[in-house]
Amino acid sequence: MRCALACFVSIVGCVLVAGQILEPTQQMKYADKVFLEKQKFLLEIVHRIENPLLFEEYLKLAKDFHFEKTDYTQYDYYMEKFVGAYKAGYILPRGEFFGALVKTHIMQAWGLFNHFYYAKDFETFMRVASWARVHVSEGMFVYALNLAIIHRDDSEGLILPTIYEILPQHFFTSKLVYEAQKFDYDVWSKQIMYEKEYKDYLYQDSMEAYTTHMHIYTKNWKTWQCWKMMGLAEHWYAVDGAQVLTGVSSVNADILKDTHIYFMPTDYTRNVEWYNEQSKLSYFTEDVEWNAYWYYAHMDYAYFLNSSQYDFASERRGEYWAHNMQTMLARYYWERLTQELGEIPEYSSLSTYEEGYQPQLNSYNGIKFGFRENDFDHKRYTNFDQFNRFMFYYRRVTLLLEQGHITTGNGTVIDLRKPESMEVMANLLEGNADLFDSHYEIYWRVLSHMYFAGAEPNALHVLPHIFINYETMFRDPFTYSYYKRFYQVLSKFTSFLPAYTKTDLLLPGVSVTDVQVSELLTYFDYSDFDVSTLLNDKMVFDDGQYVWNKMLLARQQRLNHKPFTMDYIITADKPQKVVIRAFLGPKFDSNRRVLSLAQNRENFIEIDEFIYQLAAGENKIERNSSDFYWTIGERSPYTALYKSVMLAYEGKQQFIVNATQPHNGFPDRLLLPRGWAKGFPMQLFFFVAPYNGAHEHYPSYEHTSFGGGIGSGKRYVDDMPLNYPFDRPIDEVEVFVPNMFIRNVKVYHEDRLEKYQEHNYANFGSFDYLN
Ligand SMILES: *[C@@H]1O[C@H](CO)[C@@H](O)[C@H](O)[C@H]1NC(C)=O
Ligand SMILES: *[C@@H]1O[C@H](CO)[C@@H](O)[C@H](O)[C@H]1NC(C)=O
Ligand SMILES: *[C@@H]1O[C@H](CO)[C@@H](O)[C@H](O)[C@H]1NC(C)=O
Ligand SMILES: *[C@@H]1O[C@H](CO)[C@@H](O)[C@H](O)[C@H]1NC(C)=O
Repeated sequence: MRCALACFVSIVGCVLVAGQILEPTQQMKYADKVFLEKQKFLLEIVHRIENPLLFEEYLKLAKDFHFEKTDYTQYDYYMEKFVGAYKAGYILPRGEFFGALVKTHIMQAWGLFNHFYYAKDFETFMRVASWARVHVSEGMFVYALNLAIIHRDDSEGLILPTIYEILPQHFFTSKLVYEAQKFDYDVWSKQIMYEKEYKDYLYQDSMEAYTTHMHIYTKNWKTWQCWKMMGLAEHWYAVDGAQVLTGVSSVNADILKDTHIYFMPTDYTRNVEWYNEQSKLSYFTEDVEWNAYWYYAHMDYAYFLNSSQYDFASERRGEYWAHNMQTMLARYYWERLTQELGEIPEYSSLSTYEEGYQPQLNSYNGIKFGFRENDFDHKRYTNFDQFNRFMFYYRRVTLLLEQGHITTGNGTVIDLRKPESMEVMANLLEGNADLFDSHYEIYWRVLSHMYFAGAEPNALHVLPHIFINYETMFRDPFTYSYYKRFYQVLSKFTSFLPAYTKTDLLLPGVSVTDVQVSELLTYFDYSDFDVSTLLNDKMVFDDGQYVWNKMLLARQQRLNHKPFTMDYIITADKPQKVVIRAFLGPKFDSNRRVLSLAQNRENFIEIDEFIYQLAAGENKIERNSSDFYWTIGERSPYTALYKSVMLAYEGKQQFIVNATQPHNGFPDRLLLPRGWAKGFPMQLFFFVAPYNGAHEHYPSYEHTSFGGGIGSGKRYVDDMPLNYPFDRPIDEVEVFVPNMFIRNVKVYHEDRLEKYQEHNYANFGSFDYLN
């Protein structure tokens, strides 16, 4: 349903000049009133989602709303079912937890989404969305709304706040959420005043003596808890106007000049209740953008959407899913390697799972997420039928793969030894709606998620559990162990494919002479995440317009890296159009064995890919990590976004349509694993291949990531398999050709927290911005 060309951005054209990176030049596009109206609606309708809707205008839309079939361009079975369930009082109501991997929930969310998707115009969409905001579960509403914004034609360029700003409860510890919800300016200022008096008293003799004492007795803290060493408690602090927000450099400070800003230093899970080595990694597994990535990765082609019905049939949805899964497992594995945690343990149904996990989250309805002790036996209390059903299906997929072909219901035989059958394999494993026929079960993976979350297969009322929503599952080591089993099936599928030969890989006349890579350096910096939506005070309206005058931020230490560059020297005997790919992978395994390219292939991640017009002779190309195709930088915080939309709405400034980050990009900050002081050894692999795309890509405003717009058929840079040439086994005799290049690199880490551990911090008691 998406139109192929971007509707808001005029593309001036792709200039085909030799020696150029081929990306279209675009004109700045300013939003008009109609666009701003829509954008304003989206930012307001999800505001303070767990509170009642207080925007009069939308409340009125909700009250006057009736289901009329003529309001929709299509009316299908799931929509009928949804309305039927609503009339029978069986819709998941507000205050109930929603899981995108709960079968009954998804059936309803699908019906709701279809109402959003088929709504005949944006005005109808706004009416049905307002109704849903008032009547259905907060989680279900947000899920269906996000899906609709991604898929509707007339929503191109529009954005919702990032999922961790709409539902911070699913990303930040319950302590922060609790503190935000009871934030009250008067109480807060008293607390700050008392604290100051108390400290003045403590320090009256010697602050030095006090801080030394304090350093000796600060125990059980983790390196990211910088505030402890700064002598700060975990409560709200006002951000002084002169001080910049951290990690949100994109915001024009003027926009926030009338806003009171507060931040609170925020913890990751520390597993205080039982010892578990995995919590070393919580700075990574609980990184909000790492988790949000997985959420958005499952939005574009949500498993229950059928590609022909929703117009993305040519977009290799199965392969995209499989590629994402492999990439995420590899990325997690890198982090384990640098922390010396060994291989990812594989889930086995025969034994207990060693690593317990306590998420320390409360869902938006106030109920605590379930936890798992160490050495948990998943078969202990629950439903064997459910367990056997998905294990049976898993074995069935494995057997089909060994047998080498699949017979569909109508007798067609699909050969599983062909590279293009990857799509079929991935669809089978994901259990998505594009499975060729119903005698293969679509919902088997969903069933397994529900089982591990302790939910009955047909239950509507489900307790919060991290394993039934994409935005929470990456926090738990179990998720990686479980997905490793899926990955192993795909890996086996690949192992049956023929390796590429020299003839396949060679690009005659082209050779990569050198690639210089600048220093790779990681560190922890501060980032502020906007959790203002948790505020609970009275909402003030001035002349019908919402007064947003407070901003609450969760301030966290997070992994980051310095931007780096890759300088290519490529010689060519004639001008030609090529695709250049760069992969990064570890050099050793967990036993410090150097791996061959053939063994290591699966641990490489494609970090960059771009089209280039080579000139005859020597070509020098500089790529900056901040331009990589699948990564994105900082997102605008919710408060700033709202304010800039409102300023434009009032005609006080322009709002640039494409200035926001694509929803499905990978956070640039997490590109490199946390390095070692002496350098964590890795390898870069570069490959130049002829450009084979059937059409020009990068057509949309979202050209910086996998994101030519769903349904545009132009999501990828070219038509080669994702991960090419690492999508097949490697024959070391055949693989090395002049148009590829390998470079050993080391990733360094700068410990910016060291100073707090060894010396007294000079500004003890106040926040150190000079990190
Ligand atoms: C938006 O358009 C401007 C102006 O053409 C361009 O420089 C910028 O890269 C675009 N931003 C995105 C995110 O595509
Ligand atoms: C997908 O949807 C279309 C149109 O609704 C339908 O004809 C087709 O049978 C569906 N395909 C599958 C695999 O369910
Ligand atoms: C049988 O099913 C396959 C997969 O859905 C389809 O491509 C094919 O056209 C069908 N064949 C017949 C004879 O219906
Ligand atoms: C790479 O990009 C970053 C961010 O845009 C910039 O700060 C840096 O100077 C660039 N590096 C080089 C070598 O161009």
